[in-house]
Amino acid sequence: MTSPDPWPEIRGIAYGGDYTPEQWPKEVWREDVALMREAGVNLVSVGIFAWALIETSEGVFDFAWLDELLDLLHENGISVDLGTPTASPPAWFFAQHPDARVVTRDGVTLGFGARGMASHSSPAYRAAAVRIASALAERYGDHPAVVLWHVHNEYGVPVGEDYSEQSVRAFRGWLQDRYSTLDGLNAAWGTAFWGQHYGDWDHVGAPAAAPSVVNPAQRLDFARFTDHQLRQCFIAERDAIRVHASQPITTNFMANQSWTTDMWAWAREVDIVSDDHYLVAADPEGEIGLAIAADLSRSVGGGKPWILMEHSTSAVNWQPRNVAKRPGELARNSLTHLARGADAILFFQWRASRSGAEKFHSAMIPHAGTTSRVWREVVELGDALGRLDEVRGSRVAADVAVLWDFESFWAQDLEWRPSVDVSHAERIRSFYERLWRDGITVDFALPGQDLSGYKLVVAPAQYLLSAADAANLTRYVASGGTLVVSFFSAVVDENDAVPPGGFVAPLREALGVVVEEFLPLREGARHAVQWRGAASLLADAWQEDVVLEGAEAVGTYLDGPGAGGAAITRHPHGAGVGWYLSTRLDAAALRTVMSEVYADAGIVPAAHPEGLEVVVRRGDGADFAVAINHRDEPAAFAATGVELLTGSAVDGTLTVPGGGVAVVRLEPTS
Ligand code: GLA
Repeated sequence: MTSPDPWPEIRGIAYGGDYTPEQWPKEVWREDVALMREAGVNLVSVGIFAWALIETSEGVFDFAWLDELLDLLHENGISVDLGTPTASPPAWFFAQHPDARVVTRDGVTLGFGARGMASHSSPAYRAAAVRIASALAERYGDHPAVVLWHVHNEYGVPVGEDYSEQSVRAFRGWLQDRYSTLDGLNAAWGTAFWGQHYGDWDHVGAPAAAPSVVNPAQRLDFARFTDHQLRQCFIAERDAIRVHASQPITTNFMANQSWTTDMWAWAREVDIVSDDHYLVAADPEGEIGLAIAADLSRSVGGGKPWILMEHSTSAVNWQPRNVAKRPGELARNSLTHLARGADAILFFQWRASRSGAEKFHSAMIPHAGTTSRVWREVVELGDALGRLDEVRGSRVAADVAVLWDFESFWAQDLEWRPSVDVSHAERIRSFYERLWRDGITVDFALPGQDLSGYKLVVAPAQYLLSAADAANLTRYVASGGTLVVSFFSAVVDENDAVPPGGFVAPLREALGVVVEEFLPLREGARHAVQWRGAASLLADAWQEDVVLEGAEAVGTYLDGPGAGGAAITRHPHGAGVGWYLSTRLDAAALRTVMSEVYADAGIVPAAHPEGLEVVVRRGDGADFAVAINHRDEPAAFAATGVELLTGSAVDGTLTVPGGGVAVVRLEPTS
């Protein structure tokens, strides 16, 4: 199944990156476009940080350089993703509107000289952002080079939350919309605790630094408010552009970096999802984190193809140790994004900046120039992507959904939780990694969405679960689904309050258990779980006093504070099965348990050699198997069809060289 084409002007897979010609003399522009053609670049993002050069003082615009640039790109067949530069307002703006500066939770007012937007709640900023977005759209809405609009840059970083006076005022208004009355707010926030009752709206503030832990429901609402305000900034610019321009409009998300924004809600507002991804250099298996981010980017957009708006050709410059990519990694990373649904592979950035904070960041043209290995690999990748036109528009299908709920993460990340060892990111990674190693493609999903198309739903970290979402999960199991829930889930409701009946009670029907008490362990403590009365599984960090309400204890604590109690339970409910894992199993133990879960769900793991990642994209005419070999040794998988990068026939088996990639147009099986 393919999707309607958002940008018919570009043939095949889009390829390119952020382009900042404003940092270079004009002679370099001509060299740039010649080299772009050599590399097969067909799309560049421009203007993202150029506000001060486009609007030189309030209402005074200099479009001459941008006119010339867009014409030059168009003459050379290179399309443009035109940025609105509102992530970096000019010095004149802050001089005129000092109250638009962001104030941190600790009360520090942030100054000029870096980048980062003004207060999301500043009327002056909102007006200025709309003014420049409108001016750009009016001027370039009909420019033949422009195929996409790139609003702002990475909403939520480097600043999201704002504790300025105007933000506090806006927060009050947002709360009034949400709760109508102070009684409603007092009830939702549980202000009877620690004497926090409010009798006047003017006394309600942002959850700024305070002598002790600030009301968690207030903080959760402030996170929701922040996301809402940022999104309103996007919507204001988007709607201003739409008056003059008909091209698709996006803004670049950060699936693996900043969780200030709720990508599900944002995805509903953009015409096409785009994401920036940077490997976590400290992670020796960064490709797994990459796959998570790519699957999330696809999932929030309802499975439609998406744009990898930024990634790096080699090292970044902002992590503690910026590990460079080794030969072949650039292609492996790029093809993994493509395998998981990206129809555009773009980099930050085209040419390395000589000055400024990012001069040690890699680029498509590194400081070493076009004799470098990175440049050669950039050209090779452009050539490879040029052979994959027919993959564009095809979709990824998954039988498994992993729940990913930003609100739950925001709530769980607040202070005073039972153990610092419990992390939603770790839980997601642990289950995802198991599925990844088993060659099982997953979607991410919200607990309240229609899950009926999935054979298996995994809830690794659903700390916050509303009664309605719990009912949805229970229905899913009753009608034949298999649900796996990991510990510290269904703990609080949407106000961060423990639900009636206690922990896990909202899921008691589906899981056949409730949890009487959490039993977090001391640092480094490990324990064993007896599995099916025989084998012993290893686990750490956490146990629980699980009360059986119909579930079978298939794993029992052998030692630790919960010794003798149920550790892992299985509960047939209606036509389905609910599993509950009340401890942090190690990788081998999780493998053992998940193999039984797969059997319940009717899922068969792929038989690929370890380290060979294979994902299938389904098109109207054919399916495509994209294979990425993360090991140094060759690895084979079963396929019949044509390998598109080499054009060679594949008859039953394809061997992918160590570190290599392959894309096979599969022959229909029937
Ligand atoms: C982000 C930004 C880019 C650049 C890169 C560097 O993703 O959007 O402007 O700073 O990081 O990795």
